Amino acid sequence: MISFPGREEVIRRVYDHGQERIFDFWNEISDSEKLRLLDDVESIDFTLLERLFRQAEQGSPPPMGFEPAPYIPLAGEEEGGAEFREARERGRELISEGAVAAFVVAGGQGSRLGFDGPKGLFSAGPVSGKSLFQIHAEQIHKSSEKFGVRIPWLIMTSHSNHDQTVRFLEDNSRFGLDAADVYVFPQGMIPSLDLEGKLILETPSSIFKNPDGHGGSLGALAGSGTLHAMRERGIRIISYFQVDNPLVSIIDPLFIGFHSLRKADISSKGLMKAYPEERIGVFVRFDNGAIGVVEYSDLPEELQKQRDERGRLRYRMGSIAIHLFGVDYLESITGGTDLSLPFHAARKKIGSHTANGIREIDGYKFEKFVFDALPLTERNIVLETKREEEFAPIKNPSGVDSVESAQGLMDARARRWLRERGIDVPPSTAVVEISPLLALEPGDIPASLRVPDRKRVNLEPDKD
Ligand code: UD1
Repeated sequence: MISFPGREEVIRRVYDHGQERIFDFWNEISDSEKLRLLDDVESIDFTLLERLFRQAEQGSPPPMGFEPAPYIPLAGEEEGGAEFREARERGRELISEGAVAAFVVAGGQGSRLGFDGPKGLFSAGPVSGKSLFQIHAEQIHKSSEKFGVRIPWLIMTSHSNHDQTVRFLEDNSRFGLDAADVYVFPQGMIPSLDLEGKLILETPSSIFKNPDGHGGSLGALAGSGTLHAMRERGIRIISYFQVDNPLVSIIDPLFIGFHSLRKADISSKGLMKAYPEERIGVFVRFDNGAIGVVEYSDLPEELQKQRDERGRLRYRMGSIAIHLFGVDYLESITGGTDLSLPFHAARKKIGSHTANGIREIDGYKFEKFVFDALPLTERNIVLETKREEEFAPIKNPSGVDSVESAQGLMDARARRWLRERGIDVPPSTAVVEISPLLALEPGDIPASLRVPDRKRVNLEPDKD
């Protein structure tokens, strides 16, 4: 057994749990590295990891029985529903009162996209080349201006991209947002395991850990003190979204209004799945009556394909990971600091430090999912939204859900908005982009605007 003065207890724990392989390079590392490794181990909950490993090996238990979730359909709006008008009005009031904050989860590793850096730095603007962060920041800026308030922007990063994210925002003066309105905090990390349940070394003196999933965001919000800061600012609703969707409507009066009128603790936006195999979770109502999401990978194929009497998919309401959380509710479930959502295991390739350098091995990463918070309350609603208006995820380097598909959708939405305002786009124009600083909806576009006769057009507000 290795030894280090004063650290006998933690070393004993490592051996008791059969994890002594993490000391394989003990004789090659300096005293300060030894201390670092022991510090790294100190915070590890071995009992939790053992439980998660057993769970990973057995596969996830089948979800409780469920049926399709009820939702508020778009049709209501098309029929001119009075509740839609009332909701929009209520939402506007809440935003103007300064009761709403924007919250982006940006801690993911973006490995599927093959982009080496925080995903928020990824260039998404089809003409401007603006980064995802800039597009989101400009939306928040424009909403603040329209409603005459300062809307706080909360950004969850992870250990590996925190510093780079902060630097990027600072270098770009937070794209015009005030420093006092931008809150950046990292999420928690959890060790990954190899297929034998052993810890993995990332370097000779550090354990491989991965971010604890977007479900870690609620605990991180509370644990970082940001939830408390929001309470102090008078925020009552937190508008949650993913960094990878440049079409997201971050501050949406209709959605916020419904959340308030229906006295919801959590509200979610859903849209019609495009095809049965689409990789989005679906909204369900579990047998105990609570609404939640079943992830695409957990929905059995026959249910994915099932149709109702009108020929529509039975499980058609897809989750696009856009939610509103009531601050009161978040305080009640996080108990001021933490929230115990379940971990899900995923088998992934992990870089493991060996005597011959880094070797890719198979292992388990563990993550919490934010939508597991949904069934914790019965005051939970789903509002249908239009895919072409609000959903263009950038997940893959090409093909489905890629930057090309997202830019195509951004261009199509810009053209639709201009058409709605009766503004022509010259036939020679191949791509149009509308800056969020110019418009968040068609009605914001000045009727006098003329689209210049150019191949690629980025419409920004006039500079005075
Ligand atoms: C996710 C949802 C899926 C939804 C789809 C919509 C899951 C498991 N599934 O799929 O139901 O229909 O988005 O686009 O989430 N993130 C963190 N920290 C983490 C992990 C992720 O902040 O530890 C953030 C990412 O930065 C990203 C978002 O969460 O903004 C989504 O993560 P991603 O892994 O891309 O989820 P998907 O599997 O694509």
